[in-house]
Parts: sequence; C-alpha cells; structure tokens
Amino acid sequence: MSLRLGDTAPNFKAKTSLGDIDFYEYLGDSWGILFSHPADYTPVCTTELGRTAALKDEFAKRHVKVLALSVDPVDKHLSWINDINETQHCQVEFPIIADEDKKVSELYDFIHPNASATSTVRSLVIIGPDKTVKLIITYPASTGRNFVEVLRVVDSLQLTANYSVATPANWKAGEKVIVALNVNTEDAIKKFPKGIDIVKPYLRYTPQPNIDL
Ligand code: BEZ
Repeated sequence: MSLRLGDTAPNFKAKTSLGDIDFYEYLGDSWGILFSHPADYTPVCTTELGRTAALKDEFAKRHVKVLALSVDPVDKHLSWINDINETQHCQVEFPIIADEDKKVSELYDFIHPNASATSTVRSLVIIGPDKTVKLIITYPASTGRNFVEVLRVVDSLQLTANYSVATPANWKAGEKVIVALNVNTEDAIKKFPKGIDIVKPYLRYTPQPNIDL
C-alpha cells in the first residue's frame, strides 16, 4: 500500500529489540520517526543507526520517538547493536523492529520491488502527534541519510504547525521565516509584531516567531 502525506499512519504490533510494542501506544502523544534500513550488519546502516543514537537528546528535546526497522530477526538486531555501540561510540536505546513477515513494511511501503524484492529501502516517515504522515523520504541503499537534516525538518514541521509561516530553502532554526501565503499583509503586520520584510507581495519574511532573538 502506498502511503502519502496527510494519511493516517497505520498502527501495528511488532517484535522489536526492546520487546513487543503497539506502535500507537509506544508513540503516545509524541512525534514519531519510523525509518527502515536494508539489512543489519551492513556498513551504511551501522553509521545511520549510530548517528540516530548519538542525536538522542536532540530527538528528546523535540518530543520525537524514533524506531528503526528491517526484516531481520530480533536476535540479529540485538547482536548488531553491540557492533553499532562499539564502532559508532554510542548507545542504541531506541527500538529496532524485526519485520520478518514484512507486515509493517507493506503498511509503510518500505519494500520497493525494483530495488530489492526481499529487503527494505532506506525510507523515513515523520508522524505528527495527530498520527498523520508529515514527511516521507526514500534513499537508495548506497546513500546514508543525514539525520541533522531530519531534525531540521522536525523543527520546521513543529514551527509551521503552530504559526502561519513556512520555512525557506536551507532554513535552520533561528533564521527568518516566510509569512504563509494565506495571511494577507494587513493581518501579517498584526500577527508578527517583530516586523515583516516585504520583498514581493507573495514573498514576505519575518523573524522566527517563537524565539527571542
Ligand atoms: C549498507 O548499509 O552499507 C548497505 C546495505 C544494503 C545494500 C548496500 C549497502
């Protein structure tokens, strides 16, 4: 089944490296990141899970719960975690789903048969507290993801969920943002007391509204 932005993220029960979980119960009212990798004991995946573990505090600060997934069994996940911790100088404390029957992968469209019939691609889904899908990215097996970029997207999603703004290309937390198109300039002046820079009627910047600069 293909999953699209705005869809409800399907719930599931699964075996993981931290025991059995119900996905929705695990997430509670947090944001969620569910990401698949092709296989345990592979080099790029080892670095990806290590980077994710190293960013634990950054995910926690943003109320994001992270889960990894591959079609390998729990015992393989557990022994591989030792290697990840050793080589990446981290502690993997998030669950890795053992999707041996590919049920979760089918729900989340993590198997792309023309890439591999048997293993998952490098997909990542961000899920909001409302359990809807906010972002989907898919990378090839040969390219590791940038988890700092994933945090940047979370920052943008959390900001734009609460304010009538969008974030421009290459935006990072703390930089100026764009006034949403559906806010007219008269209303924007009232909504954004830090000021508005009108470059074009459709391109209006304002300082990030939820921080003191
Ligand atoms: C890797 O993680 O390095 C990898 C996994 C599957 C295929 C190719 C590379």
